[in-house]
Amino acid sequence: MPACRRPRAMSAGPAPAAYEGCVGCHGANGEGVGAAGPAIAGQPAVYVADQLRKWRQGARRNDPRGVMQIASAGLSDAEIAALAAWLAAQSAARAPASAVATGSPSDAAWEAPAASRA
Ligand code: HEC
Repeated sequence: MPACRRPRAMSAGPAPAAYEGCVGCHGANGEGVGAAGPAIAGQPAVYVADQLRKWRQGARRNDPRGVMQIASAGLSDAEIAALAAWLAAQSAARAPASAVATGSPSDAAWEAPAASRA
């Protein structure tokens, strides 16, 4: 699937090659795919790179089933830097409607303005 180019001033171009292993869980542009694949777009590159390095070395291990330890294990420092820079430049917009169909409480809260919640 070709990377989706957005007509945005901050577009960082196509996804780095290493992002191919992330699309299934985090979406084509880091927008997330629902509860099992959180949105990771638009976070500071320094933070994202730090998390990936911590998972790679086993210092962060809070994710369910250790999926991020596996996903980060084969990344080089250069790949982590490229991923972090590209993700930081992606829009932090919410996940597409298909992901909302999970019906999680947080999805419902997002749909309903606070004033309309009884
Ligand atoms: C099998 C599914 C899966 C794959 C593949 C995957 N991730 Fe994740 N990722 C997750 C889950 C689940 C979390 C949430 C972990 C947690 O809550 O601690 C996460 C969390 C993250 C976070 C942390 C977000 C934060 O706010 O701390 C980053 C950054 C990230 N992933 C980047 C990547 C990158 C880059 C790749 C590809 C190299 C990738 N992920 C591949 C499932 C995946």
